[in-house]
Amino acid sequence: MQRTKPVTVVVVGAGHRSEWYGKYSIDHPDEMQVVGVADPNPIRRREFQKLFHFPDENMFEDADALAKKGKIADAVINGTMDEMHVSTTIPLMRAGYDILLEKPFALTEEEMWELYGVMLETGRRVMICHVLRYAPFYQAVKEEILKGTLGKILSIQASEYVSYHHMSIAYVRGKWNSLKKCKSGMLLAKSCHDMDIIMWLMNKTPVSISSFGSLMYFTPENAPEGAGERCMADCPHVDTCVYSAKRLYIDHPDRWRFYVWTEFEGKENVTIEDKIRLMKEESPFGRCIFKCDNDVVDHQSAIIQFEDGATASMNMISNSGKDERTLHIVGSKAEIYGSFEDGFFTIRAIDPSPGIECTAKIVDPLSGKKAEGHGGGDHRLVQDFIRYVRGQETTPSLTSLSDSIYGHQAVFLAEKSRETGQTQTFKAI
Ligand SMILES: NC(=O)c1ccc[n+]([C@@H]2O[C@H](COP(=O)([O-])OP(=O)(O)OC[C@H]3O[C@@H](n4cnc5c(N)ncnc54)[C@H](O)[C@@H]3O)[C@@H](O)[C@H]2O)c1
Repeated sequence: MQRTKPVTVVVVGAGHRSEWYGKYSIDHPDEMQVVGVADPNPIRRREFQKLFHFPDENMFEDADALAKKGKIADAVINGTMDEMHVSTTIPLMRAGYDILLEKPFALTEEEMWELYGVMLETGRRVMICHVLRYAPFYQAVKEEILKGTLGKILSIQASEYVSYHHMSIAYVRGKWNSLKKCKSGMLLAKSCHDMDIIMWLMNKTPVSISSFGSLMYFTPENAPEGAGERCMADCPHVDTCVYSAKRLYIDHPDRWRFYVWTEFEGKENVTIEDKIRLMKEESPFGRCIFKCDNDVVDHQSAIIQFEDGATASMNMISNSGKDERTLHIVGSKAEIYGSFEDGFFTIRAIDPSPGIECTAKIVDPLSGKKAEGHGGGDHRLVQDFIRYVRGQETTPSLTSLSDSIYGHQAVFLAEKSRETGQTQTFKAI
């Protein structure tokens, strides 16, 4: 039997997401090889070279330099930041690369249609990193739907609770905290996965959407009395506030370390004193949580209507004790409810027999085991990308760019509805 050659990839944007996907090649060298990198940051380029052992001539200063060089691999893993996704992907598609592209794949509807147009024109394969579709929990839910267990779906309710420490690191103090800075609203940056899951599970054409939400809590009026500007420099609440930088990042040195301590990347012998000084003087993560430059919402809800009258609702709510995604789907024959973090869900069916109200069956795809990286989804996503690039049969989880359009469109229209107070209409594809 002829052996299939590994799919070769160049990483564009050598951040922590790309590293995670790229590392699939270390355990599966027969399936994928990382043969180059494009990133303006020379330290990150070197780190990737050390990790994946490619020659100097395959290191590029940015996506454009790689595109100008032409095709040196089968595909690209594009893990640049949100606002770079479209401008970096278009020249790479034109240069002949298939692309694994991080979400959000576009920041506006206009950008979304532009990218889609170039994909149709060039015939390239573009897959979006909607990793949740590959998590065993959601895969098992989808299987039940495909088997017909639920019958005709009437309603899907999905909620995403964003924990205090996650909200703080990313959406209040961090790089997705402001529309001006990252060009993504909260729903796009955080919950485009959940919108994608709704569209994937519902599998019907969406018609209209309404949304409400605001920035209500992480504002100066809610700072405790006498709060300082920087937790560890001038705040009397440093040991009691649940958002204290000391409590979140010094007392938990490993929590979100790839975001908190980027200043120390490539440096050795970093001491606790160095970290405390950074928190006191410079780090954006050392600021009072109520006095940051954040402008994205801290809670938002959206309701969607589908062509056959089915409805779905999506809630993104921050300031919870832990990160949690819950799902409740009601169909004509049965319902499913569960929490992604628990890893299992329950299928409930009506049973009017005397002494019984309904039946309940637990489905636990991991049998109680813990899985890494979005419930184990990250590496299964790379596996499917490899099959996609090779033109082999893929799984029902595959999220091509075309499959991702309604989920992203839902987010753009929800934002428009939140701002204007008007229900918005989907454009069909
Ligand atoms: N799928 C998920 O669940 C998930 C989770 C977290 C983040 N993300 C998304 O992943 C993306 C990357 O996030 P990250 O935290 O790894 O980012 P990061 O900032 O660590 O990495 C981005 C890299 O892109 C590089 N870059 C900038 N301009 C470039 C250019 N023109 N060409 C090539 N490289 C360039 C930067 O130097 C940086 O090293 C973001 O869009 C984010 O929203 C997705």
